[in-house]
Amino acid sequence: MIQVEGLQGRVAVVTGAGRGIGRRIAEVLAGNGARVAALDLEAPAHAGMLGVACDVADEQAVDAAFATVEEQLGAASVLVLNAGIYPIVPFEEMTMAVWQRTIDVNLTGGFLCARRVLPGMRTAGYGRIVAMGSSAGKAGGARSVAAYAASKAGIMTLAKSIANEYAAFGVTANALAPALIDTEMIAGTRDLVSRIPVGRFGTPDEVAALVAFLCSAHAGYITGEVTDINGGFLVD
Ligand SMILES: NC(=O)c1ccc[n+]([C@@H]2O[C@H](COP(=O)([O-])OP(=O)(O)OC[C@H]3O[C@@H](n4cnc5c(N)ncnc54)[C@H](O)[C@@H]3O)[C@@H](O)[C@H]2O)c1
Repeated sequence: MIQVEGLQGRVAVVTGAGRGIGRRIAEVLAGNGARVAALDLEAPAHAGMLGVACDVADEQAVDAAFATVEEQLGAASVLVLNAGIYPIVPFEEMTMAVWQRTIDVNLTGGFLCARRVLPGMRTAGYGRIVAMGSSAGKAGGARSVAAYAASKAGIMTLAKSIANEYAAFGVTANALAPALIDTEMIAGTRDLVSRIPVGRFGTPDEVAALVAFLCSAHAGYITGEVTDINGGFLVD
């Protein structure tokens, strides 16, 4: 596991931490000494972390979850906006419900969580936010994922807006643009492995290492950046 400086004792909130990439991010932050709150639709029961049930698309649920985190661990100085859904639906069959839920979870959820922690980060003069974007948010997606791609473009830009507004307060905000990381989410895209130049899927551990670095003391001069992690799948 990657070891970085500056996470010891910090309160870190990771959304969508029940499984996949988010779970590994939570484990790596905890392994670097952070006090981690793992948020997901059902409270994760990971060893050594506070598990909190939270639908990030629900404003009241987000407020309640962060109140629980503050009560149990303290104010968050690290926030990883990782919760996401990936509906594959041909464009003409996309219902309003699927469109809206995708935007609500992948984009509005990030806004709600960030809005909840930023006042504390500003007051403390320190914060690290990392948002999980996607190569689909740059290129539109290799499958029929218009709502997903639009939501991911949105969250990557949200990170840049936060970066602009909060750099002067010691808060950095960055995004990742991953593609084809080996989790349950990509069950419908496994055939794309032949199009990955490095010849394999990425791993949650590789994504978590990058997140840990961006959340560390080493990365205070990196903000407003979108970092690809895609094995060369999309070079731009
Ligand atoms: N796997 C990839 O190749 C890939 C590529 C690009 C981006 N991403 C992004 O990385 C993030 C993690 O993806 P993953 O591959 O680990 O997927 P995953 O499906 O394995 O995990 C997503 C997690 O988010 C949780 N979640 C879903 N809706 C939620 C909600 N409303 N509130 C709280 N939690 C919710 C799920 O319960 C799940 O635990 C997502 O944002 C995804 O879009 C993944």
